[in-house]
Amino acid sequence: MQVNNISKSFVNRKKKKIEAVKNVSFECRSGEIYGLLGPNGAGKTTTLRIIATLLKPDSGAVIVNGLDNQKEPDKVRAMIGFLTSDMKVSGNLTGREFLRFFGQLNHLSEEKIEERTRMLVEMLDMADFIDRSPNKLSSGMKQKLSIAISLIHDPDVIIFDEPTNGLDIFASKVVTDFLKEMKRQQKTIIISTHIMSVAEKLCDQLGLIFNGQLVENDTIENILKKHEAAEIENVFFAYANSMGVIQNA
Ligand SMILES: Nc1ncnc2c1ncn2[C@@H]1O[C@H](COP(=O)(O)OP(=O)(O)OP(=O)(O)O)[C@@H](O)[C@H]1O
Ligand SMILES: [Mg+2]
Repeated sequence: MQVNNISKSFVNRKKKKIEAVKNVSFECRSGEIYGLLGPNGAGKTTTLRIIATLLKPDSGAVIVNGLDNQKEPDKVRAMIGFLTSDMKVSGNLTGREFLRFFGQLNHLSEEKIEERTRMLVEMLDMADFIDRSPNKLSSGMKQKLSIAISLIHDPDVIIFDEPTNGLDIFASKVVTDFLKEMKRQQKTIIISTHIMSVAEKLCDQLGLIFNGQLVENDTIENILKKHEAAEIENVFFAYANSMGVIQNA
């Protein structure tokens, strides 16, 4: 999966132009986890939405398994599982019924839906609540259900926006272990996070993003070496200071 020089601007209510993503390029291969790490408002979600075909870039291109995601959005979408906090599960269907509904939307057979449901319920440790409706679930349980829904069609490419947000240490471990297993299965995985430890534990390559710009795009080891830093947090704060992200710190 290649992201080639994408940019995206928005115009806010005061008619001011916001450059949410500026000339961002990176690559993520099968069997790798790429992490976009940046503060609030840095452009992480915008970048991931562009990759997932939900938003058109002003310029640049995203190539998924050789296909341009703007030219073949349907084919690309079928290959992608996208998780975002914008999509909240709610309503009276049970978790299992939700999975079935999204499986049907993805044209899966009933057998395939059952097989995928069984696997996802086991891997994400959802057996205790899969037959309850989302209205009766905690936010962590809902997050796990959202993850399962996003992957019901067994996509090659996994794009997760802040997958461990709002999860306690146990649920967080279930999700990061799950992503490691997806990596082992040779999926192409891109996540965003502002949690350094998640990035450090999980990611093969890291993209540090500030003010819409990718200021680093390398392995954690190389980034640390380049900055002669012991931890990514140090690099993060150095950029935040030099780019004026922290005004009063
Ligand atoms: N639909 C939109 N209309 C106008 N501005 C937007 C829109 N979406 C995002 N932005 C702006 O683009 C910038 C980047 O936002 P984005 O949601 O990509 O950041 P983020 O890195 O995901 O932040 P967070 O960590 O808070 O989720 C912000 O300044 C945001 O206000
Ligand atoms: Mg975001």
